[in-house]
Amino acid sequence: MITANTIEVKVQKISKSRINELDFEHLTFGKIFSDHLFVVDYNNNQWGNAQQLPYGPVPMSPSTSALHYGQAIFEGMKAYKNDKGEVSLFRPFDNNKRINISADRMCMPGIPKEYFIEGLKQLVHMDKDWVPTADGASLYLRPFIIGTDEFIGVKPSDTYKFYIITSPGGAYYNKPVKVLVETNFIRAVEGGVGFVKASGNYGRSLYPTKLAQQRGYDQIIWTDARNHRYLEESGTMNLMFVIDDVLITAPLGDTILAGITRDSVLTLARDWKVKVQERKISIDEVIDAHKNGTLQEAFGTGTAATIAHISTIGFEGKDYVLPGIEGQMFSQRVAKELEDIRKGRAEDIHNWMYKIA
Ligand code: COI
Repeated sequence: MITANTIEVKVQKISKSRINELDFEHLTFGKIFSDHLFVVDYNNNQWGNAQQLPYGPVPMSPSTSALHYGQAIFEGMKAYKNDKGEVSLFRPFDNNKRINISADRMCMPGIPKEYFIEGLKQLVHMDKDWVPTADGASLYLRPFIIGTDEFIGVKPSDTYKFYIITSPGGAYYNKPVKVLVETNFIRAVEGGVGFVKASGNYGRSLYPTKLAQQRGYDQIIWTDARNHRYLEESGTMNLMFVIDDVLITAPLGDTILAGITRDSVLTLARDWKVKVQERKISIDEVIDAHKNGTLQEAFGTGTAATIAHISTIGFEGKDYVLPGIEGQMFSQRVAKELEDIRKGRAEDIHNWMYKIA
């Protein structure tokens, strides 16, 4: 039993680590899970019974409410090992705040800091050998909450579980992405849940994405639900453009996820005195900029993807090709700076890294 600052965690260790099965040289995203998971129960209006258990299948009734009505929310975060071998989490308190915003919107209980942060600390500490060291690689952390009532009436669950699982992984995209502007299907509407990490947001994106992939694109750019003119997000990422040396991204609101990588990129840009505009940006403006030569860069930002360069934007049957990565100076610089902060090679002036081991 480990006694943390404020919570007690019952620990059951795996009998034999699976780490030798992992090929650290060829990491992909999201397929291999490290030895342990963390779980806390919500019953009688309170969280308790924190446990660290061997990773594996969890018992679940087929009537579990999350499976039917989607009371399921998650976070994406990463742990990094720096050049000295120290392990840190990137901005974990911001993920804790965001999962609680998601919880509120989905009528679920938020997870207090002592469980969220202590759970991450203890889990990652125990599985710290699973944190990769290579540049671009990390231990992806997936905290999530699900409604667990065994009940198929439509109402908020009375019971929940908060889990954390972790997965060593490399880059989400291993090459610049070709994206299609989606003008038929929508991801989010005003008054909806686009600003939270509700699992259903991702499920609904699969069909339009599949159609785009059948046409040779990697991902789609979501447009506003009303007019399909304003560019909102790309796949699971926030979307940014550099036009005429100005960094432009959609403003936060009901339809945009408040990405922590988004915020980090905007913060670094402002530190570097790059002009930043958080405002609506239309496809017409992007095409005009492409035509007159002022569209310098387009990229997605996200925890999994970090910075994903966009190579081509497809719209109304035409492909608009962007400069190659070597020509996308701001996004290259910001990607390197973020990696350097995470690896302890650049000063962490905003205190983003939270050292745990
Ligand atoms: C993340 O960037 O962590 C995400 O949420 C994307 C994920 C769905 C792969």
